[in-house]
Amino acid sequence: MSDLAAKATELFEKNRKKGTTTLNGVTTDYYYTCPGIERYPHQWLWDSSFHAIVLSHIDPERGQEEIETLLKTQREDGLIPICTLWEGITSLREYTFIAPYTRGKTQTMTQPPVVALAVEQLYRKTGDKDFLRRTLPGLMRLADYLNTKRDPDGDHLVSVFHAFETGMDMLPAYDRPAGVTSTHPDGEETIMALLRPAWHNHFLDWDEERMAKEGLFDVEDVMFNCIHAQSQHAIARLLKEIEDPRSEDYHKSAGLTEEAIITHCWNPDGLFYSLDRDNTQLTVKTVTSLFPLILDSIPKEMLDSLVEHLTDPEEFWPEYPVPAVAIDEPTFDPEENNNALWRGPTWISPNWFIINGLKKHGYTDLASDLTRRTLELVEKNGFREYYNPFTGEGYGQKDFGWATLAVDLQEE
Ligand code: GLC
Repeated sequence: MSDLAAKATELFEKNRKKGTTTLNGVTTDYYYTCPGIERYPHQWLWDSSFHAIVLSHIDPERGQEEIETLLKTQREDGLIPICTLWEGITSLREYTFIAPYTRGKTQTMTQPPVVALAVEQLYRKTGDKDFLRRTLPGLMRLADYLNTKRDPDGDHLVSVFHAFETGMDMLPAYDRPAGVTSTHPDGEETIMALLRPAWHNHFLDWDEERMAKEGLFDVEDVMFNCIHAQSQHAIARLLKEIEDPRSEDYHKSAGLTEEAIITHCWNPDGLFYSLDRDNTQLTVKTVTSLFPLILDSIPKEMLDSLVEHLTDPEEFWPEYPVPAVAIDEPTFDPEENNNALWRGPTWISPNWFIINGLKKHGYTDLASDLTRRTLELVEKNGFREYYNPFTGEGYGQKDFGWATLAVDLQEE
């Protein structure tokens, strides 16, 4: 085991949560890894999926338990909550912040559907078809929910109704729909940006149809949709493993998602942008703009253009790429800011996607270069929530779960 994998194993021990509780009236066991002991003691959808991807190298059985705990939180209609508070609310401050979207131990929003990618990686490591049979129904229900209830205008792009659902809370691309007018919002403006659409949706009962008609925030997000496309392909591949004829349906549906991203989100400046509720592009250059390089069907000239932007030192290529916001955007801020996350620093999970996309499309040297820089970031500065893109200094939560994706990058 590498030094990094040994350190990740320690982190997984430290951040482990296990017990029995009542969830939606049913007594059940839980076993997951929290993203960070102090600030993030609960189970988050995409964090847990990343943890399971890393656990596939360290302890696949535990990875399976992480996913099966996550799937216990799934709603009848297919939504998997962004976060489940297995051990309850931890403070009054937390309560006041999460009240509009928390119901008992569970929540009304979702997050990028990385879970299918985690299931696929665990399956590749274990060959366990029973695990597939147990998890695929939930993965399909999530994809179906996103394709129906979350696509009110039927354009094959999933809508998110709050910035939290993208996983990139205060990304400047969402400033317009979130009502942020300052280039560098202060604490109060941040709280308003995050709480106002949440309370608004609370009064719409988080009803998808009503949020689509009357909500404040309705974004067709490039990153979310790229991950959704990849997840549907993963579901299709896994269905094939168990000889389920529905496999083709999910490839088809993934193709429709990809086509819609390529048709509607591409901009002649050579990047992709998320769409606001009136279908206009939110033209702030962020790491989201690069995500279509993970798509199977991205045309070569678009791919080359994304790589050009990615490797431009004035935009996305400082010493430690990939910054969440392009360096030449006025909103770019490389420093620690635990109030307003995702306004400049480098995070490990987007890098993981981008590296895998580059590899898939044959940019082997560039993928190795970005892997080397990402590993250096983690080896020098520890498993941190985010990092300064120029100096590599670690910020936010220490012993942060998904920074262990470095182990997966190292293994590949
Ligand atoms: C922050 C991040 C989000 C993550 C959560 C738990 O809110 O923005 O992406 O899932 O923390 O780590």
